[in-house]
Amino acid sequence: MTIDALRRVGVVGYRRCRDAGCGVAAKILARDLNKAYSTRGAPIQAIRDFDLEVQEGEFLCLVGPSGCGKSTFLRIVAGLVPSSSGEVRIVPGPSNGGKPLNSIVFQEYAIFPWKTVRQNVAFGLEMRGVPKRERDEVADRWLVKVGLRKFADAFPRQLSGGMKQRVSIARAFANDPEVLLMDEPLGALDAQTRVVLQQELLRLWEEDKKTVLYVTHSLDEAVLLGDRVVLMTAHPGTHKASYRIDFPRPRALELTATPEFARTTFTIWNSLQEEVARAMEMQA
Ligand SMILES: Nc1ncnc2c1ncn2[C@@H]1O[C@H](COP(=O)(O)OP(=O)(O)O)[C@@H](O)[C@H]1O
Ligand SMILES: [Mg+2]
Repeated sequence: MTIDALRRVGVVGYRRCRDAGCGVAAKILARDLNKAYSTRGAPIQAIRDFDLEVQEGEFLCLVGPSGCGKSTFLRIVAGLVPSSSGEVRIVPGPSNGGKPLNSIVFQEYAIFPWKTVRQNVAFGLEMRGVPKRERDEVADRWLVKVGLRKFADAFPRQLSGGMKQRVSIARAFANDPEVLLMDEPLGALDAQTRVVLQQELLRLWEEDKKTVLYVTHSLDEAVLLGDRVVLMTAHPGTHKASYRIDFPRPRALELTATPEFARTTFTIWNSLQEEVARAMEMQA
């Protein structure tokens, strides 16, 4: 849909919404979630009474000031870190067929330096015992999609940061998980590469609309990519506000140049900035 058409149908860009959906088709569920890290001193309460539901097929962006517990939450959902109390789960689909529940993409380039690009992309499949021929085929298909076909036999050291992150993203998609968890996957990239990869992510996601939980500190990125943007408060992280982003899809970079887009990010920023200020006071 072009931006003119968008104006004709009167899209404003966002709606403030009550928490987290209606629970009808919740794919990721968190209820009264608490996490305290034990340290040698007092425990650090990273997340307090946090509630969130991500609907099946939803692209949900989680935003909050640095240190508010975004990564902690994502790691709890992924099963990498235990919670202290509360409930969190990924609801498996009826026809799961042995699919992994989640794949995670980290900000830092978490790919194996001793494996080729193809072997990295095929890693999740290899872990699940998929035969070599089949997993190489799947990996190559994803390498085409992320523009790395010619680098299938290269090693990570031969790649730029943006290319390495494409490998991580291709690996996550190739694993065909029920949900994709992404922790600032474009956060370490330069601004230009970031814009290109945002477009690629949109394109890949729009092909099969997986459930995505996406952490970012960039509101522009959250509004461009997300169906919903959820704000967390400053440390300890709780649920602050939720905004439904109703820009039509497929979305393109053009959207970011519209007043509707600016108004949406500005409105959300107004709510977020108090938390950023609070987080900075705590650090001072
Ligand atoms: N392994 C850990 N041990 C102790 N404290 C931690 C650990 N990981 C994170 N924290 C603390 O928990 C809080 C939330 O951290 P994190 O989830 O990384 O926040 P975010 O991703 O939003 O920046 C911070 O105060 C951080 O210092
Ligand atoms: Mg983090």
